[in-house]
Amino acid sequence: MLILGIESSCDDTAAAVVDCSDKGAVALSSIVSSQDALHARYGGVVPELASRAHIETIIPVVESALEAAGVAIDDLDAMAVTEAPGLVGSLLVGMSFIKGISLVNSLPFVGVNHILAHAHAAFLLDSNGDDDKNGGSQEEDSNTTEVPDFPFVALVVSGGHTTLMHMTDHGEYTVLGRTLDDAAGEAFDKTAKLLGLGYPGGRVIDSLATEGNREAIRFPRALLSKESLDFSFSGVKTSVLTHIQKLKGGIDDATLRDIAASFQEAVVECLVTKALRAMESVNAATLVIAGGVACNSRLREKAAKECERHSYDLYIPPPKYCSDNGAMIAALGYHKLKKGERAGFGLNAKPGLKDF
Ligand code: KG4
Ligand code: ZN
Repeated sequence: MLILGIESSCDDTAAAVVDCSDKGAVALSSIVSSQDALHARYGGVVPELASRAHIETIIPVVESALEAAGVAIDDLDAMAVTEAPGLVGSLLVGMSFIKGISLVNSLPFVGVNHILAHAHAAFLLDSNGDDDKNGGSQEEDSNTTEVPDFPFVALVVSGGHTTLMHMTDHGEYTVLGRTLDDAAGEAFDKTAKLLGLGYPGGRVIDSLATEGNREAIRFPRALLSKESLDFSFSGVKTSVLTHIQKLKGGIDDATLRDIAASFQEAVVECLVTKALRAMESVNAATLVIAGGVACNSRLREKAAKECERHSYDLYIPPPKYCSDNGAMIAALGYHKLKKGERAGFGLNAKPGLKDF
């Protein structure tokens, strides 16, 4: 089934053409137009600017995705679009666009949940001809020749979410834990802002941390001593702020790298410890980690080491499919379409987080 996947829930306009089957999904193209530069001066996403930018970019992004895949609209079998959660104005752009295409071309479509779609990036097999913002700039060390077997534990870590789920089938899940305050990516971004590193800062902290000492400062690991599978990341950010305020003579480059590495270590330790605890709690043997923060090199390294030690199978999609993209939307949409689900023109945005 050839599916056009569209993502516009926050600040990335993304489209992908994906060849989907029960064996997995192969992205023939995946185009992402980032709004990072637009929101950087505000230090966070401005909803009204985001939806306006989606309106301007959605047509060229979809045209590029079709062109890169070498297909026309007529070749598509169906479409999938993010319906929840996200910024309502942003979600509506993708949804209205897909309804228009459906009306003109009589193409069926479904709405999908963005967080479940992040976990479905693990079903994307090796692709070629991609061109997106992460392409080629980060190590592509992931297993993209096999898909995970159900049941598995999924840790979705992004700018808006930090959720541990037990997934028993496509779209079937139980939430095991979630953040009680900031999402992991939000903690990276807010800490980067405190350190004057710009927005979004996750990638910058990751790169500074590679040359820093992760044991230089012991930042707090919230909720680690408890049995809970929930997370809390607001304290670590405050702790970084207090640490900076105590540094009377300002921050030199070496200190900056140590703060970045120590902060990152605190977050990663919480994520990996809780993920392993979740694996034990449901007796799972497979772990999937996805979402923008899953691009983090230390998280990938520590998760790989721990999963090897416990003989768990680990699936972390390549960075280009960890951050927001249209291919993961199509990969999940396929399973809904296969079950016979079809959305009507009454499909509406569901901006709230609901269970997540
Ligand atoms: O999944 P995503 O693209 O969008 C949301 O659904 O939120 O995730 C974006 C988040 C941002 O907070 C960004 O700083 C973070 O992922 N991120 C990283 C890295 N790359 C992106 N965080 C830590 N290390 C990275 N290498
Ligand atoms: Zn996301």
